[in-house]
Amino acid sequence: MNIRLETPKDYSAVERLTFAAFETMTLPGRTHTDEHYLAHILRGAPAFIPELDYVLEEGGRILANIMYSKSKVVRPNGDELETITFGPVSVSPEFHCRGLGTKIIGYSLDRARELGFGAVIIVGHPLYYPRFGFKAASEFNLVMSNGSSFDAFMALELREGFLGFEGGEWYEDSLFEIDQSAFNEWHKGFLREAKA
Ligand SMILES: CC(C)(COP(=O)(O)OP(=O)(O)OC[C@H]1O[C@@H](n2cnc3c(N)ncnc32)[C@H](O)[C@@H]1OP(=O)(O)O)[C@@H](O)C(=O)NCCC(=O)NCCS
Repeated sequence: MNIRLETPKDYSAVERLTFAAFETMTLPGRTHTDEHYLAHILRGAPAFIPELDYVLEEGGRILANIMYSKSKVVRPNGDELETITFGPVSVSPEFHCRGLGTKIIGYSLDRARELGFGAVIIVGHPLYYPRFGFKAASEFNLVMSNGSSFDAFMALELREGFLGFEGGEWYEDSLFEIDQSAFNEWHKGFLREAKA
């Protein structure tokens, strides 16, 4: 198994992988899968971090992917602190629970630390991410942009003390608010290509 940066040749395989992985996700209120579209539009966005766009492959087949983008904390006094966020992160469904997610997430967090980023903030499975050191974001007095905080909202300091305890509101890139009509149009082509 090999972890390497994604290249344009991988884009289509990664989007299919992302779709397949997230189709397995069942959550109350979840109506459809659009994370593969997110992967598609993220790569062209200023917030995207290409140095942390990894694939895990075996025998030439891509089995996992992780992407990161820039996010931020806005302090109560208006100051901004740059953070990073991963997602989508996907493992091919037939390889779930075999350690691949742990491998690619752990690897990318190490690289993010080496690149000098200070903290990673995510919304994700609250039973999965603590193994990487993630804590409830509320421990750093952070809230979402709408003032809420919940178990799935988590933070990891890559540099100790980076987040401090002043708290603030966390914002991911606006691209995460997906334009559903643009998604629907793109998704039709995606399904056509997947069938071909
Ligand atoms: C979540 C995901 C990336 C984990 O990768 P993976 O390779 O299956 O996981 P690993 O083998 O590294 O780890 C397995 C552990 O994760 C746990 N786990 C896997 N998916 C989980 C989930 N959705 N919620 C909680 N725990 C989960 C397993 O129970 C197992 O726990 P254990 O080690 O205590 O037995 C992968 O399952 C996936 O692609 N899921 C669909 C897309 C998704 O949910 N992405 C993340 C959105 S936040």
